[in-house]
Parts: sequence; structure tokens; C-alpha cells
Amino acid sequence: MTDTATTTDPQGNPGRTDPSQMLAVYPELAGTVAVVTGAARGMGAAFAEGLATRGVDVLAADINIDQMNDTAERINATLATNALADKPGRVVAARVDVTVRDDHEELAQRAVAEFGGLDFWINNAGIFPFALAGEISQEQIGAVLSVNVEGVLFGAQAAARHMKPGGAIVNMSSVSALRVRKGRGAYCTSKAAVAHLTESLAVEFGDKGLRVNAIAPGYIDTEMTRWVREDPAALAHALDSVPLHRLGSPEEVFGPLLFLLSDSARYVTGHSIAVDGGSRHV
Ligand SMILES: NC(=O)c1ccc[n+]([C@@H]2O[C@H](COP(=O)([O-])OP(=O)(O)OC[C@H]3O[C@@H](n4cnc5c(N)ncnc54)[C@H](O)[C@@H]3O)[C@@H](O)[C@H]2O)c1
Repeated sequence: MTDTATTTDPQGNPGRTDPSQMLAVYPELAGTVAVVTGAARGMGAAFAEGLATRGVDVLAADINIDQMNDTAERINATLATNALADKPGRVVAARVDVTVRDDHEELAQRAVAEFGGLDFWINNAGIFPFALAGEISQEQIGAVLSVNVEGVLFGAQAAARHMKPGGAIVNMSSVSALRVRKGRGAYCTSKAAVAHLTESLAVEFGDKGLRVNAIAPGYIDTEMTRWVREDPAALAHALDSVPLHRLGSPEEVFGPLLFLLSDSARYVTGHSIAVDGGSRHV
């Protein structure tokens, strides 16, 4: 192992370089157009920034339009001074409620009108309700299935109506699709549905020349997992179940996403990539 192997990234994660510099560059992505949902913060915001850095125009959408506007403004300002962003794409903010089917169609039409096409669609928006399966209310299960499952389905349907052959859809599943935990029955069920839906969509959309894959993250350092970081017992318990003994960063999920969108993955469809530090095995 060389000296550089002990370098840490801004979150203190070990590696050889800062992830923003280590990620593979896929020149074929420059000039393409992507929709990213749930992009006001967390992984969606990191995806929007990472894609725009590589020359992708991004329609970044969220139900929280105020935060989405702020995030898009911040990303565009950062891109203007980012030496890695040779010819950055534009990030345009949009409002979407992923539970509303028509919102997706509007989003797809806006991407085409604003940027002249649609190549990629990242169904990233999601919610995480903590409730025992034996006690979860009808409202809670309805909400999580609506956002996490219907939101993905409607997004994929709209994307497929507007994409040309060569397009790719990526859905955010979770390690919770592969490994259940107490208090997460509804969430685990919703993400297992996303994994299965991804396979079904891949089988159908292959006829259109579209690929559909999923990413199954483990514990990633975002607002969604703030409750884990803020409770020392929960954090210790969580890290016990991660062979790499740390949370992942949004940038570490972006790398596999980039691969799935790139031509390097042109024969990969109907697959879920776990990005979980190995936690699906523990
Ligand atoms: N953070 C993790 O550890 C983790 C692990 C596995 C999977 N995931 C999944 O990854 C995705 C992103 O997670 P994150 O940690 O960045 O979450 P986050 O909570 O930080 O961000 C989610 C975003 O989705 C938006 N959103 C929620 N409901 C919406 C709706 N109805 N319409 C439009 N936007 C809506 C929120 O406003 C928010 O900006 C989610 O699907 C999540 O389930 C997260």
C-alpha cells in the first residue's frame, strides 16, 4: 500500500484522494440531460452537482422548492469556480411531488423544452418512516408506498415516454431491500418493491432500448440518517453492522451511479448495486 492510501476525504473517510477527484470521468456524458428527483439535499443534491460537473444539464426537482432553488443556486455558483468542471452543465430547479403522476410528465416535458432532450432519469426522492410493522398506521404505510414506490413507477413511466434508445433510468433502492431491521417494515417493503420494480421495468423497457438499474445504499451521511449520528447507541449499533465500520458519503454513491449511466454499463440492466460498506451481509 502506498502512502496516499491513508489520505482522507472531507468527511474523514479513508481513500487515496478526495472522491470528487478520484471518480472516473466518462466523456460521453457531457452534453446529455438528466432529471434528478429529491435533489434539494442529500444524495440527490450530490448527484445533481456531480453530473453537472461532468457537463450534464440537470433538471433538479424536489417537493421543497425553496430548498431546491437554494441548492441549484449554490451548485451553479460552485461549478463556475470548479477547476474540474471544464464545461459544466446547468442545474435548473423544479418542483415535483413524486406521488403525483402528472408532475412527472410535466418534469419530462420541461427537461426536453429546457435542454432539448432527455437521456437519464434518477428516481431518488424517498422518505424513511420509523415504525414497527405491527403498529404502523394506514396513513404511514400509504405515504411510504406512495413516495418510494409509486414515485419511482411514475418517474420511470414519464422518462420512458420521452427518452430515445440509449437512455437510462436509475432508481434508489436500499440495503433495506436486502436486509430487514426492526422498526423498518414499511421502508424495507417499499425498497424491496423498488428493487423488484426495477427488474420488471428493465424487462419491459429493453424493447425501447432503455436500461433500468437500481442502487441500494447502506448508511449514507445525509439528513435521512441524522437520527443515527445523533444517538451514540444507534450509531454504535449501526456501525457494528457495517464491515467497513463507517457511514458512506453521498459522493461514494455517486461513483456507482456514474458507472450505471455511462457507456461502460451499456449491457447492464435490471441490476441493483449495493453501496453499503458490506452491511447487507451482517
Ligand atoms: N441516507 C441513507 O442512508 C439512505 C440509504 C438507503 C437508501 N436511501 C435512499 O436514497 C434516497 C435519497 O436519500 P437521502 O438520504 O439523500 O434523503 P434526504 O431525506 O436527505 O433527501 C430526500 C429528498 O427527497 C425529497 N422528497 C421527499 N418526498 C418527496 C416527494 N413526495 N416529492 C419530491 N421530493 C420529495 C425531500 O424533500 C428531500 O429533499 C431516498 O430514496 C432514500 O430512501 C438513503
